Amino acid sequence: MNGTMDAALVATYGNSAPRYTSYPPATQFHNQFGANELAEAIRAHDPAQPWSLYVHIPFCASVCYYCACNKIVTKHTERSGAYIARLGEELRLLAPLLGERPALKQLHWGGGTPTFLNQDEMRLLMGLIAERFALEEGDRGEYSIEIDPRHAPDDTLRLLRALGFNRLSFGIQDFNPRVQEAIHRQQPYALVERVFDTARRLGFQSLNTDLIYGLPHQNRETFARTVEQLLTLSPERISLFNYAHLPERFAPQRRIQAADLPAADVKLGILGDTIDRLRAAGYVYIGLDHFAKADDELAIAQQQRTLGRNFQGYTTNGDLDVLGIGASAVSRIGSVYSQNAADLEEYEASLDRSALPVRRGFSLNGDDLLRREVITDLLCHMDLDIPAFERRHDLSFQTYFAPELLQLEPMQRDGLIDVREERIRVTAQGQLLVRAVCAVFDRYLRASNRRQFSRVV
Ligand SMILES: C[S@@+](CC[C@H](N)C(=O)[O-])C[C@H]1O[C@@H](n2cnc3c(N)ncnc32)[C@H](O)[C@@H]1O
Ligand code: SF4
Repeated sequence: MNGTMDAALVATYGNSAPRYTSYPPATQFHNQFGANELAEAIRAHDPAQPWSLYVHIPFCASVCYYCACNKIVTKHTERSGAYIARLGEELRLLAPLLGERPALKQLHWGGGTPTFLNQDEMRLLMGLIAERFALEEGDRGEYSIEIDPRHAPDDTLRLLRALGFNRLSFGIQDFNPRVQEAIHRQQPYALVERVFDTARRLGFQSLNTDLIYGLPHQNRETFARTVEQLLTLSPERISLFNYAHLPERFAPQRRIQAADLPAADVKLGILGDTIDRLRAAGYVYIGLDHFAKADDELAIAQQQRTLGRNFQGYTTNGDLDVLGIGASAVSRIGSVYSQNAADLEEYEASLDRSALPVRRGFSLNGDDLLRREVITDLLCHMDLDIPAFERRHDLSFQTYFAPELLQLEPMQRDGLIDVREERIRVTAQGQLLVRAVCAVFDRYLRASNRRQFSRVV
């Protein structure tokens, strides 16, 4: 398909829906789930199986007005030292549950801005992790970090590589100076180009960049120029996010004037143009907001049906249990989700009492697990093999999901999906609206709580 979007379909199916980085979505997590439940889940993890570790660093040196991430903007660089001490304490409390230094196949430092840490702090933090986990040597692990290109000089990148990171991820959003000014993020092309050059020279294997459409002053022409500039850098992966403007929830967004935002038809035009251009340049549309070069592991994993989904989006290691440390971090272990306190004071106070800082979570029941599998298959493979699902779970799909199959009928008529006896296939047309297809299988989604999620397109 080309990226031309049918405005009528977007009007019908583009409503708000979760991004399904988890099922059920985090809005269902509750505080009956606590540290004991997390401890039980970690103990039940097969010790022979490696882990994926997510570390949240919430600090940023300056605010980007559009930002909806969980972050603390501060000029006080000394705050990170106290925070790392708490991460060390959290790892110390987890150690007896984890057992003797299990293997770490995947590591991600996210934020906020992990490059807010100074070099000594980066070394210290990696050392603390290495005390509790056996790190993979020779780039056999998938170790990634979110950097801020404005705070990533060559020697920082060199250190990150030496510490074992082999992937970088960072925001670009838009190269246009007028847009950059309106979002309070001055990041000229030349600066990003330097980061790319250095990262390539140092042997980082995969560079991921984020773009946002729907920002102030954007139009089809200016955004097309941003895309051309980005393509000259040839990142392995590109995320293309729809700007979620929720000024009542995120105070810095109030600095963005609604009158400067592009109209819905312009946004749709930008989205369609960008999809077409990225495809022509050899990128595969993985799904939701993600594109990857055809030879990138993400695209290969999709082809080989090993692609998974976690809180960072799509992942090549979807089967790994994820342990999340730091404020707001989420763990996904077997059939539970556990989330730490997002409030920094609460997070730190809990560790100062030597208590795991779990704030809320969720234990999936049998029905939740079935639905998670359906939603993951649809999001990752745009396809659900019904007989295989029935064999795995010893049930009749037609009977179990009879109401959902009925709800899918209009989507089938509108060409979003193709439901035959044996499979549910998301069509090329439906790919951009796949969240709406998944939402049919979401038992917790009601019209009344939809508004808390971002729009599908
Ligand atoms: C944690 S940040 C990336 C790392 C680093 N802090 C940086 O800015 O380069 C995650 C990404 O979320 C996206 N994002 C943040 N707020 C958003 C919003 N309101 N709507 C859509 N995307 C958003 C941006 O593309 C941003 O790069
Ligand atoms: S986009 Fe990144 S750097 Fe900007 S405020 Fe958000 S987390 Fe911080």
